[in-house]
Amino acid sequence: MLFSTRPKEDRKDLYDREKEIETIKDSIRRREWSAVLGIRRIGKTSIVNVATNEVGGIKVVINMMRLYDPRKKKYLKEDFLKLVLESVNEAIKKYTLGGRVVRFITNVLGIDEEAFINFNLVKIKPKLKRFREEDINYLFRELNDMAKDNGKTLLIVFDEAQELSKVNVDFTSIFHDIYEYCLNTVIIYTGSMVRILNNVLKDMQYREPFFGRYIRTIELPKFTPEQSKDFLLKGFEEEGIMVSEKVIEEALLKFDGIPGWLTHFGSEYSFAIKHGVKPDIESILEKAIEEVKEEVKNFIKYSQSPVRYSAIFLAIDRLGGRAKLHEVKKVASSIINDEVPEPRVYEMLNRLIDYGFIEKENDEYLLPKDEPSRIGIVKASMEVLGEY
Ligand SMILES: Nc1ncnc2c1ncn2[C@@H]1O[C@H](COP(=O)(O)OP(=O)(O)O)[C@@H](O)[C@H]1O
Ligand SMILES: [Mg+2]
Repeated sequence: MLFSTRPKEDRKDLYDREKEIETIKDSIRRREWSAVLGIRRIGKTSIVNVATNEVGGIKVVINMMRLYDPRKKKYLKEDFLKLVLESVNEAIKKYTLGGRVVRFITNVLGIDEEAFINFNLVKIKPKLKRFREEDINYLFRELNDMAKDNGKTLLIVFDEAQELSKVNVDFTSIFHDIYEYCLNTVIIYTGSMVRILNNVLKDMQYREPFFGRYIRTIELPKFTPEQSKDFLLKGFEEEGIMVSEKVIEEALLKFDGIPGWLTHFGSEYSFAIKHGVKPDIESILEKAIEEVKEEVKNFIKYSQSPVRYSAIFLAIDRLGGRAKLHEVKKVASSIINDEVPEPRVYEMLNRLIDYGFIEKENDEYLLPKDEPSRIGIVKASMEVLGEY
């Protein structure tokens, strides 16, 4: 179903993105690594799922969002290890594999195989300290060889890979080792925070020998207005629901070309009609706004300068959603009655770009056009200012 709100797994549920999926599949076949970049809810996880399912390797998905915590500047190495082992455990069960990989892990941890298969945290957690960084390398080598023995490629997906930069582990050495010794392995990174992820990868690329080499980047754009409309029409047709032109136009104005919001809208609207409730675009929008508001509030509240970040967001909004540096500085300073130095405003704007909250076009800073983001950002900023 086009309107199912989970990340898609199957191409029949995915609208378009054929070019991007082919690029990922082609990279995998050539044993090249890739990075799928784009803002939140644009469909990164979905296209990686579909592409990797179609290629049919043995896949280990390391979903970095499971570690995500806005209050934390750094994640513990042990928490990362636990995530890796858990992800390996899931893959082993899914593909009914095991053998050498399980033996390796249980040997290092000093636990019995059953404890690992059941992922018994009581037994695993106290032993995580035994897992050294080089053991991560050996683990991936074992996985690589196991996949090879099965005639498959090992695919390792780091979903939301910018979070790797918060883990106290030397990833340069780990990725280098995989690149050099695991010839049967392909890594795919995804990230919302385009510039941070680019930076993480760029840093790696500077360090020889591995990172002088090429990681293919695939940027996922928003749907065009024509695609967005077509997506909604096809989705409603699939649901067997008649929707007026007016409703479609209104949804396009509110949700712009963000696949995640269009899916949310389509799903809620269809659900209401099927259950005999009058669908209400405003309350569907409200739900989406709440989601963004929470995300933005978390970011602002745990940042260095909650008041100033809020003022900057509000300033761009008051300037029509698009403004130059000196304008942002002036309006933001007057909102909080505190002269914020221009270089500081510049730095903060860049950080907001890093986190995918705003975009830069030439010398102007832009709030997102979709209403959930725009209104969510404004509400979060007002609430934070109200609390200080
Ligand atoms: N091309 C697409 N066709 C249909 N649904 C999509 C498409 N891209 C994204 N979605 C939907 O949008 C939402 C966000 O997708 P997801 O893959 O989780 O995005 P991301 O990983 O970039 O945050 C999900 O509900 C997903 O089902
Ligand atoms: Mg995702």
